[in-house]
Amino acid sequence: MSFWKPFRKLYIKSTDFTHSYQGKDKKLVGFYRAWSYCYDFSVGLDPAFGREMKSMIGLAVKPGDTTLDIGCGTGISTFYASEIADKVIGIDLSADMMRKLEQKISRRKLVNIEIIAGRFPEALPKNIKFDSIISSFCIVHFTPEQRKSLYKQIYSLLLSGGRLGLFSAQGEIASSFETKDEIVSNLELAGFNKIEINDVSDIYRIVKAERQ
Ligand SMILES: C[S@@+](CC[C@H](N)C(=O)[O-])C[C@H]1O[C@@H](n2cnc3c(N)ncnc32)[C@H](O)[C@@H]1O
Repeated sequence: MSFWKPFRKLYIKSTDFTHSYQGKDKKLVGFYRAWSYCYDFSVGLDPAFGREMKSMIGLAVKPGDTTLDIGCGTGISTFYASEIADKVIGIDLSADMMRKLEQKISRRKLVNIEIIAGRFPEALPKNIKFDSIISSFCIVHFTPEQRKSLYKQIYSLLLSGGRLGLFSAQGEIASSFETKDEIVSNLELAGFNKIEINDVSDIYRIVKAERQ
C-alpha cells in the first residue's frame, strides 16, 4: 500500500479552501506566486499524481499531434505530452508557474514546447486548432457557470476526431472539483462524444472525450 494513500482524501479536501478563488484571477495569480516554489515538490509527494496524469496523457495524446495544455503550470503534464506529440503548446495565467517551466525547457533543451503566458481562452491566438487538448488540475479554477462555456470553447478548438483529456480530483470527495454528472452534462452540451470517466487512486479522475 502506498504511504500516501491514507492522506489523499484529507489533502484533496483541504484544497477546497484555496479553490474558493474560482474565477478570481488576481487572487489565483497571487496564490501561485507563492505556490510555484513548492508546487513540484508538493505534488511529487504522491507518486499516483504523476502516474495517473501520465496515463490520461497516454489516452488523449497521439504521435504526430499538436497538443494544447490548458493551465500547464510548471509543465509536468506538458513534458509528458511532449514525449508523444509533435508539438505542445502550454498556456498559463501565472507568470511565476511558467517561469519554472521555462527554466526546465532551457535546461532540457526541448524544442517541441511553446508557451503562452496569459488567460485561457483569451490569450490563445485566433484560428489555431489542435489534435488533442489536455488539462490537469486547472478546470477546478473556473466557476461551475464558467465551465459550461469553457467546454464549448475547448470543443471549438479541436480538429474533427480530436481528443480531450482531463486529469483532476473527484467532486464527490472535494466539492470544488466537478462531479461526474457535471462533467458528463457539460461535455455533452458542448457536443463531445465517446465520453469515458475513470476514477483512480482514491481521489483522482481521468476523463477522455472526442470531437467527431
Ligand atoms: C494546480 S496547477 C496545475 C498545473 C499543471 N497542469 C499540473 O497538473 O501540474 C493549475 C494551473 O492552472 C492555471 N490557471 C488557472 N486558471 C487559468 C486560466 N483561465 N488560464 C490559464 N491558466 C490558468 C494556474 O495559473 C495554475 O498554474
